[in-house]
Amino acid sequence: MTPKEQDAEKKACAEAAALLVEDGMLLGLGTGSTVAFLLPAIARRGLRLTCVATSPRTAEAAIALGLTVVEFDTIARLDMAIDGADQVAPDNWLIKGGGAAHTREKIVEAAADRFVVIADSSKVVTRLVAPVPVELVAFGLEATLARLSDVRLRDVPISPDGGIIGDSFADIEDPYVTAARLSDDPGVVSHGLFPPSMVSTVIIARGKDIETR
Ligand code: A5P
Repeated sequence: MTPKEQDAEKKACAEAAALLVEDGMLLGLGTGSTVAFLLPAIARRGLRLTCVATSPRTAEAAIALGLTVVEFDTIARLDMAIDGADQVAPDNWLIKGGGAAHTREKIVEAAADRFVVIADSSKVVTRLVAPVPVELVAFGLEATLARLSDVRLRDVPISPDGGIIGDSFADIEDPYVTAARLSDDPGVVSHGLFPPSMVSTVIIARGKDIETR
């Protein structure tokens, strides 16, 4: 698939997801190049929405399009969240965090009654493969890395919450086991494995077709 074809698929799944948004919703906005097509599609609908952003760059872009974006500190639940993914497995396990925003994404998406994933066809995989993005606490970093010898730090800025971004390159035989191993480490803030239990709907664009599952 050429980059142009991929962008067309990103736009198509984003526009399909934008049609699911209803007037008055509390809406979580994801992060990434697919979400970059989602934001104008939502803004064009002219609905009254209150949005929460999963990253400063999404907040900026949404505000520039006229959407209302609020802090996510006094809101207990959201009606819907929409976000991209790096990999989508057949059972709807996801890998996210290619853009290093997975901690806030997971917090926002876990608070949503409905989490809609938007993906071009290149994101659909038969099984998840490493790397899995991680965010680590700066305190005790060397000790964390000594325990998690499969993690390599990524050369990117710290997260908006002060976390250090890296990737786990361990083989993923069972995503549940990998997720539990990373979650159990005291130095890990969050990881990019999102379980199917979080996912309500996956919208996949394949050429001109839209598949929903
Ligand atoms: C951001 O950290 C990620 O979780 C993105 O949602 C994911 O990487 C998908 O990004 P693209 O839409 O740019 O592929």
